[in-house]
This record gives sequence, structure tokens and C-alpha cells, in this order.
Amino acid sequence: MASVILVTGGTGLVGKAIQHVIDTEPAGSRFGKKGGETWIFASSSEADLRDPEQTRKLYEKYKPTHVIHLAALVGGLFKNMKYKLTFLRENILINDNILHTSYTHQTQKLISCLSTCVFPDKVEYPLDENKIHSGPPHESNFGYAHAKRMVDVQNQCVCILKAHGSTNPSTSAYKEEFGCNFTSAIPTNVFGPHDNFDLEDSHVIPGLIHKCYLAKKNGTSFIVAGTGKPLRQFIYSYDLAKLFIWMLREYDDVEPVILSVGEDEEVSIKHVADAIVKAVGFQGDYSVSCLFSLYLYHRFDEEVLPQFDTTRADGQFRKPASNRKLLNLVGDFQFTPFEDGIPFTSDYVPNSDELSASFGYHCEMVPRELRQREDREEVNRIARHWIYRHVNSIELNMTFIET
Ligand SMILES: NC(=O)c1ccc[n+]([C@@H]2O[C@H](COP(=O)([O-])OP(=O)(O)OC[C@H]3O[C@@H](n4cnc5c(N)ncnc54)[C@H](OP(=O)(O)O)[C@@H]3O)[C@@H](O)[C@H]2O)c1
Repeated sequence: MASVILVTGGTGLVGKAIQHVIDTEPAGSRFGKKGGETWIFASSSEADLRDPEQTRKLYEKYKPTHVIHLAALVGGLFKNMKYKLTFLRENILINDNILHTSYTHQTQKLISCLSTCVFPDKVEYPLDENKIHSGPPHESNFGYAHAKRMVDVQNQCVCILKAHGSTNPSTSAYKEEFGCNFTSAIPTNVFGPHDNFDLEDSHVIPGLIHKCYLAKKNGTSFIVAGTGKPLRQFIYSYDLAKLFIWMLREYDDVEPVILSVGEDEEVSIKHVADAIVKAVGFQGDYSVSCLFSLYLYHRFDEEVLPQFDTTRADGQFRKPASNRKLLNLVGDFQFTPFEDGIPFTSDYVPNSDELSASFGYHCEMVPRELRQREDREEVNRIARHWIYRHVNSIELNMTFIET
């Protein structure tokens, strides 16, 4: 039967990975494209999902039978802290528009993307799918985390009420009230090709790859601030893409699933840095140092603490998430070893002088639609993000404008 699968946020790290898997896995295989499927990867320039009218038009244009909803206002630690309300409001708008439009357009299935930042700050480890609502999230991403939590509330507030001890939960979630097949996925830290390599606003892996690349290019030292000891679970974006495709085709419950490597596959930040040094081929001075809190500019995830002292520079030491539910359901699945994913990712670091020149002139290089935004800081951030993402394939209709 014909199906149209719309991927919102289709130009991001995870969206690009899903597109790669769909394009490269054998047709008809578990993760490959099936007969009768049409895949649409939408960017913000096609529809600003904060706007209900643009969201509606997107759905009318493509008439999706299935939606993988990845689009989100995401950002580094300091942005999350500075604009908590903006993160809350914009993500609530995006998510509510997608959920409601999926309902009104009778979308057969919707999978929204959450994040492990939804979990409470104070919680017993390992994290699992039943602990999302059992306490407030960390204050550094209070807005972003609550917006993501609300998706789960809308999907399945019956189950949440049960988790809070209700013996007679009301039935008002999308599933119970409207019979909608809406669920969500909770990835741990993601890395892979097409990540955001911005030095100021990136996750730890692309940020360190970029730093290491610059150290190699400029003959300087590669210094990783912090102790290097914190542990994190990283999932390679192509693995995550396969798991989204699995959820789309084979998972029919409303409750979320954590998509992650196992707890026993946590890696230390020192291990991350070692793998990057190897992949980039860096042979200069390399050290992990507590003295440089610059490391904080490369957030481990959305929950790193903002203090600039060495006692807190590492953020949470670990916050392991259980993938037991996933493994019980997905059956045979091979995760890409961490060391194998890093070289593929580092191939995507921006390496053109042209890119450096763009930054030298402080040019903004943004799609025309984004120029109209009034918040200059935001436009600059988006511009950097776009340049990094598309530097290896500048096929977009970009425009230089003066700063
Ligand atoms: N990366 C991680 O480590 C991680 C971990 C856990 C969960 N997640 C979640 O995974 C999802 C995808 O993350 P990602 O890393 O792929 O993000 P990303 O690389 O930053 O991409 C974000 C995507 O969202 C789109 N977008 C942003 N604002 C939009 C708007 N107003 N209207 C329409 N589209 C909009 C962007 O479009 P443009 O390209 O046009 O700007 C882009 O395609 C997010 O929901 C995120 O919360 C990510």
C-alpha cells in the first residue's frame, strides 16, 4: 500500500541519517525503502512549524500517512539557559502543531523525538521509560525538557497518571480520545555526519573534532578541558536512523522507547578525545586539562552545569540510560562501534578555506527566508549552523548579506 513518510527536521543530523539509510540500505530490506513508499525530508525553509498555517499547508502538500517528527529548536547549554522560555514556547508550538495536524489529517502514525534531558535531575539510575515524569528536569534546560515532556503527556497521559498512582486515570490523550497512533523515541547523545560543527554551539563530539582539526591545521595544541572522566552513551546517527525506521514499521505502542547503546557501552570524554585525535590524524601536543573550562562550550548534552570552576567543569559524571526495552523488542541489532563512527563523522568537519573566509568577513550565509528574522544573534547562529551543515554540499539557495 502506498505510504508517504514525512520527516520533519529532515535536514538535521538525525534527519540526514534517516535519508542516508533509506537511500543506501537494500530496497525492501528491514531498513531499506519499501515498495510504495515516498519519503519527504522537510526543512524549516519549507515550513516553519511554529506556525499552524504553514504546518497545515505542509500536510496538505504531501498528505503524509506517517510522520517522524524531529524538528525542534535545539541549542547549546548557554542558549538553553538564557532562553528557557523561548525553548519552551517554540518547541511547544512546533510539537503541538505537528501532533494536532497529524490528528486532523488522520496521519496513521507519528513518532516524535524526545531526548534524555526530559528525565528528572534527581533520579535513580539507570534511566528507563517509566521515570520521565517522576521529578523536575535539570534547571539548565527546564524549558526545552518540559516542551519535550509535553509530547509524551499528549500522547499518553493515561499511562502517566498510572505512574503517579492514579487508579482511575482519565482518558484524554491522543490515543484514547482520538485513537491516534502517536508515540515517541528517546535517543541518548547522537553523533554522526552532518552534525553541527559550530565551535560555540555544538555537542561535544563535533565541537572537539573541529577543535582538533584546527589544532592540526594551525600547528597548535589540542586541549580538552575538564577531567575527561565523565561517561556518556553515544549512538551513531545511522544506527539511530535504523531504529526510527524500526519504530515506524514494527513498534505499535504509545509508550516511548529509549534508543541507545547499552549501559555497558558508556565511553569517557577522554576516550572520545583519543578517538578523535586518531581519526583526524593529529600528531601535535594533546592533553586533557581541568584548567580550561572552554570545554563547557562543547556541551556533553543538554544538562552540563554552567559553572566555570574545575570542580564542576565535567557536568554530571554519568547518567546511564537502559536500552533493555529496546533490545527486547528489536531483536537482532548491531550497533556501530564508537570508534568506527568517529572517522565517518570527522570526514564532515568543514575544511575549506572558503568557509574560514566566510567567517573572517563575518558574513551571514542564510536561506532567504531566515533573513527576515529580527533577532540578529539568532540569525548568526542559524547561519553558522547552515554553513557547517552544508559546506560539503552547498546546493542550497544561499544568499550573502551584510552584518
Ligand atoms: N543531537 C543529539 O544529540 C540529540 C539527542 C537527543 C535528542 N535529539 C533530538 O533529535 C531531534 C533531531 O535533532 P538533530 O540533532 O538532528 O537536530 P539538528 O541537527 O539541530 O536539526 C534540527 C532540525 O529541525 C529543523 N527545525 C528547527 N526549527 C524548525 C522550525 N521552526 N520549523 C521547521 N523545522 C525546524 C531544522 O531545519 P533547518 O535545517 O531548516 O534549520 C533541522 O532540520 C531533535 O528533536 C532533538 O531534540 C537530538
